[in-house]
Amino acid sequence: LASTEVDISALQPGDTLTVKWRGKPVVVRNRTQKEIDEAKSVALTDLKDPVARNANLQLDAPATDANRAAPGKENWFVMVNVCTHLGCIPLGQQGEFGGWFCPCHGSHYDTAGRIRGGPAPENMAVPVYSFVSDTKIKIG
Ligand code: FES
Repeated sequence: LASTEVDISALQPGDTLTVKWRGKPVVVRNRTQKEIDEAKSVALTDLKDPVARNANLQLDAPATDANRAAPGKENWFVMVNVCTHLGCIPLGQQGEFGGWFCPCHGSHYDTAGRIRGGPAPENMAVPVYSFVSDTKIKIG
């Protein structure tokens, strides 16, 4: 399968880069400490979808922030930016939980891309990716 390399060296905390991967928008976000703290403070029992949906982990991995963010680099967050309801593209840093908001039918995602309100059934997907170096990510 096709993969793509992304240079993340220019991304400051709070910056997002969107790249196209297999025809879909993938966001790479350098999360702020506030966003990380908010995502970590959520109890798993409060999540609508308790599964991580992270292609790098086992299918049943729980949706903790650690299982959504990059391993050992919790500020880095990579996600397929496609709403799990009917496939619209949610807007970043909006909505009730400060993560993503889908304007099509009003789904709210948190700062770890987990579904928290609205009709979408699942957390947005984390694609297969890895760090090629400290400043480069390979998606796919
Ligand atoms: Fe996103 Fe319906 S497609 S809420």
